[in-house]
Amino acid sequence: MVLLITGPRWPALKWNLSDFNEDSKDEFFLINGHPIFTHEKELEHTSLSLDSSPEAHQDNNSQNQNPLNKDFDREHTTNTSKVVWDSSIVLSKYIETLVALSKLDLNSKRVLELGAGKGVVGIACAILGATVTLSDAPEAIPTLSEVVRLNKLNASIPSRGCIERVVALDWISCSQEIFAEDLAHSPFDFIVASDVIWVDWLVEPLIKTLAGFMNQTTIAYLAYQQRGARCHPLFLKSMQENGLKYNIIPFQDLHPQYQLGDTIAVYRLEKDSIV
Ligand SMILES: C[S@@+](CC[C@H](N)C(=O)[O-])C[C@H]1O[C@@H](n2cnc3c(N)ncnc32)[C@H](O)[C@@H]1O
Repeated sequence: MVLLITGPRWPALKWNLSDFNEDSKDEFFLINGHPIFTHEKELEHTSLSLDSSPEAHQDNNSQNQNPLNKDFDREHTTNTSKVVWDSSIVLSKYIETLVALSKLDLNSKRVLELGAGKGVVGIACAILGATVTLSDAPEAIPTLSEVVRLNKLNASIPSRGCIERVVALDWISCSQEIFAEDLAHSPFDFIVASDVIWVDWLVEPLIKTLAGFMNQTTIAYLAYQQRGARCHPLFLKSMQENGLKYNIIPFQDLHPQYQLGDTIAVYRLEKDSIV
């Protein structure tokens, strides 16, 4: 007998990210009073199959050992870029809170977002003054570029921060060369990433990529929705192996209306000077 049980809804937070329509501005998800547009209506038609949910991947991890599933897995992991995940909302609002409390100054700071999806966290950082590089797997770049265009945050508008560029950056085949010139002159001040830990075979490549772009002064903020037992120990091990130390932000410090209790944690990562 097969039992079909309704699982948790993804995403679960209440927020409005909408198509470009200035008339109903108040209904939007706002950062510092500015709406973020993500073309949700158009993308509603892009159906994600059930198995592409991070939750399903967690449960089907044994399939990932089979090389025949490589293309299948690739399609499904990068398909997740078409949805705005709760972690990005929690992290954006946490960063906004830090800026509002003058605990963080993003003005003219360089920010890199990894696995940006629809780029909500990076766009929030740009609204808050940063110069942002958004990155994701090559398959996700067309949608990400479209979202950037929609938010009019390209480099030609200097009034606040900007999205400096959108870059295809695959954690599996990532080479340090991609930002070699930038890193030599002016490293990233911050790296942000939301909901990028959900498939075990991607944890090590992600953390390696992240650590590779950090120096002693770079701070990384990572919002993490723990969905199963497998990824968490890998995440902790990977941070240690790659010379990173971390703090978990107390839940009471997250934005009170944009958090899910202990379901989504925000990690603050730095290079460990002892390593
Ligand atoms: C669950 S989604 C999160 C998207 C977005 N950060 C958010 O929170 O809404 C995971 C993201 O990781 C990206 N990703 C998956 N595999 C990747 C890889 N090998 N290299 C780079 N990004 C990858 C996906 O394309 C997707 O954008």
